[in-house]
Amino acid sequence: MTSRELVEKYLQFFKEKGHSVIPSASLIPENDPTVLFTTAGMHPLVPYFLGEEHPAGKRLTNNQICLRTDDIDEVGDTTHHTFFEMLGNWSLGDYWKEESIKNSFEFLTEVLKINKDKLAITCFAGDEDAPKDTESAEIWKKLGIPEKRIYFLSKEDNWWGPAGETGPCGPDTEIFFETGEKSCSSNCRPGDNCGRFVEIWNNVFMQYAKTSEGKYIPLKQNNVDTGMGVDRTTAVLNGLADDYLVKDLWGEIILAIKEISGKDYEDETKAFRIIADHIRASVFLAAEGVIPGNKLQGYVLRRLIRRAVRWGKKLKIAKPFLEKVAQAVINSYKKAYPTLKEKEKEIIAVIKEEENKFSQTLEKGLKEIEKIGELDGKNAFFLYETYGFPLELTEEIALDRGQKINRKVFAEEFAKHKNLSKTASAGMFKGGLSDASEEVTQFHTTTHLLHAALRKVLGNHISQKGSNITSERLRFDFSHPEKLTEEQLKAVSDLINEQITKKLPVKVETMSLKEAKEKGALAFFGEKYGEKVKVYTIGNSNTDFFSKEVCGGPHVEDTSEIGRVRIIKQEKIGGGVVRIYIAKE
Ligand code: SER
Repeated sequence: MTSRELVEKYLQFFKEKGHSVIPSASLIPENDPTVLFTTAGMHPLVPYFLGEEHPAGKRLTNNQICLRTDDIDEVGDTTHHTFFEMLGNWSLGDYWKEESIKNSFEFLTEVLKINKDKLAITCFAGDEDAPKDTESAEIWKKLGIPEKRIYFLSKEDNWWGPAGETGPCGPDTEIFFETGEKSCSSNCRPGDNCGRFVEIWNNVFMQYAKTSEGKYIPLKQNNVDTGMGVDRTTAVLNGLADDYLVKDLWGEIILAIKEISGKDYEDETKAFRIIADHIRASVFLAAEGVIPGNKLQGYVLRRLIRRAVRWGKKLKIAKPFLEKVAQAVINSYKKAYPTLKEKEKEIIAVIKEEENKFSQTLEKGLKEIEKIGELDGKNAFFLYETYGFPLELTEEIALDRGQKINRKVFAEEFAKHKNLSKTASAGMFKGGLSDASEEVTQFHTTTHLLHAALRKVLGNHISQKGSNITSERLRFDFSHPEKLTEEQLKAVSDLINEQITKKLPVKVETMSLKEAKEKGALAFFGEKYGEKVKVYTIGNSNTDFFSKEVCGGPHVEDTSEIGRVRIIKQEKIGGGVVRIYIAKE
């Protein structure tokens, strides 16, 4: 079975069970300052677990593109990837454990025809925060899973979320497939990562919210959040113990690396896997407009590309080679993701440029390392500053040499020279949408005011290209050939503050995208919308409004809650795009 057949069967199955198929959200969370990437399909759904109504209903399903950087060190094994697709189905306060588990069992055994004797299950063992999940175990037993194949594990294994520090989370029951690999010990069990069991599906029962004090309190509604990795499950269905052997996902990519290096996958498995994984992730990131840099998402893209270049060096590839690998990724995924083909030139250019930048200094940097001898925080910073070695890359080289870098010393050096990169704070990788703080909500509504104000002052060619909000400021990218003049800037900020002073109500309605457009709502992320959308209107009535825009929320109830704001900076970021920053006055 190909990966696309799996995706199709999954979505079809849940559609027949009353779920609406929603589009995959962007890899870069919109309006969520606390995380760099969408790490799971539940991520964009957090407000709906908390009780907000989803326009597509209470039963949802999709194939979500995800990116996780916390697994990066494990990339190189058979099942971990930075970028991956995750199939999911969700109940927003609708069905609960029984229906969720039964659906999973039916899909696995009847649609995918997996032998139930190959399945092993884990359930939450219980602790002071939540009871043992015997309910799930009983459901599994009723379905014919023997007791000895059901394992109770602690929070570390059988609890998911919150995606950030606070927010929805709960016990989960995980479904493993037994591969036929030998037991690693007499206590070998699912979750050991020894290869005997592969986790293919996770059903999370999101019934708690973790508070900032670390308490778990019941949510208003019981939600189900499930996730199934497309790479892993397709491998299992094809009897493969290695995801990278799945032909339709990795075949062409692995072949490209073989042709470039003249080496075989069997002999240089780790290098092949890392290059393939990192360039797949890089292609999808570049397709979302991420540019390699020293901060945030850009830094991750830089790390991925530079790490791939270094592993290419290990394969003794002499010339730039990433273009061919990126091309193979685009070819493999363009049918499912047509934007990759549309943006082919930009994607390749971004990856090539970063490869070239780094290739020029990689060799020198590696020679320097030979001279340096003992690597430490101080010279790791020197390598970063002089040769563009991401810290993590130097750490990896240090590890190969049995040395360790003190991150604190590196950070101190960094701070001495520059503003400390935000990415250095590991918290960024873990955050979550659950932090829809007041400030973030206020700035979110401000983006709508800004968008409308820009169109009124500059004209209707203005369209939003992206936005990013922290509790301190909002950043807004839009199409416009030139920076704004002082007068234009003043006109835009006056217009925004005027609406804020007017105390305009913010109203939400649900309708089809077509209807929204007919009503004059702005909508610029066309293909990402589902059948039903939410339209936010800022103004006194449906005919007398300042802004009408398709958006997921959350927003303030009236504009006066925002308080006066000011434009603190603008910059031209290239490609006919201008960026504006707004903060509170
Ligand atoms: N959020 C859960 C996971 O990522 C289920 O989708 O495993």
